[in-house]
Amino acid sequence: SFEQSLRPQNLKQYIGQDKVKENLSVFIEAARMREETLDHVLLYGPPGLGKTTLAVIIANEMGVNIRTTSGPAIERPGDLAAILSALEPGDVLFIDEIHRLPRTVEEVLYPAMEDFCLDIVIGKGPTARSVRIDLPPFTLVGATTRAGSLSAPLRDRFGVLSRLEYYTEAQLTDIVVRTAEIMETTMDPQAANEVARRSRGTPRIANRLLRRVRDFAQVRGDGTITLKLADYALELMQVDRLGLDHIDHKLLKNIIEKFRGGPVGLETIAATIGEEAHTIEDVYEPYLLQIGFLQRTPRGRMATALVYSHFGLEIPNE
Ligand code: ADE
Repeated sequence: SFEQSLRPQNLKQYIGQDKVKENLSVFIEAARMREETLDHVLLYGPPGLGKTTLAVIIANEMGVNIRTTSGPAIERPGDLAAILSALEPGDVLFIDEIHRLPRTVEEVLYPAMEDFCLDIVIGKGPTARSVRIDLPPFTLVGATTRAGSLSAPLRDRFGVLSRLEYYTEAQLTDIVVRTAEIMETTMDPQAANEVARRSRGTPRIANRLLRRVRDFAQVRGDGTITLKLADYALELMQVDRLGLDHIDHKLLKNIIEKFRGGPVGLETIAATIGEEAHTIEDVYEPYLLQIGFLQRTPRGRMATALVYSHFGLEIPNE
């Protein structure tokens, strides 16, 4: 599909994450030379940085099929057993949000990852017996926003651990230019840079903003995305100069106005702005921490002086 074609299909097309790419390319080449399956890979980091894209690329580079599922989608051990039994030798099984796998399912995964087999208990009580079923060798690619909430036994069974980082403005500009070309949209280089600058280091956000800016160019302009048009569209979408949106604003203003800049607990912030604590922790906080707008202290979150100057507020002395 069109959506699929926007995504890079191989490591060469993939922009950024240079260390991850370099390491993966070696492990993939080595596995191919030995005609083995690739070791299990854990990809972790904030949402929207390309974990799913990398899983697809790993399968493409290995020349195998990929089967995609997610932690919460696998409810019972039998669900996982069915998925594993249907794999072809060498296939990639991609489990997104792997930290949300139920514990009972996780236990089925251990022998599957380690010895490519399933231990299935048939029957109940005194007549129950255990049957061992062989599986085709496969590569598990797991993705999570929080490596810390993976159980130690699961984490230890991955041979490759790759942490994805926020992209630089230059890398995001390259991604925006590439996407605009695929969409056959004319875009000034300064406009591509502006979209990149306001995308919070995240390709998913960059490509989403690009689509919306392109809509404005088509309806309010002549189809060409100029810097002026991009600025105008981003302003209307309430994406500020640093890429912060109205939820970031609500979160930061709340800490400043209701809690004098903090410290304030995550649950309290969540309750007062009406967002899930997990969403704040996984989606909003990581970037605000990265740009030095938030600080985590033992007593809760604090807004830094940068927040006050960003909003044109006087920094309280105390
Ligand atoms: N589109 C989204 N993420 C990308 C990346 N990392 N490289 C190239 N195109 C992309």
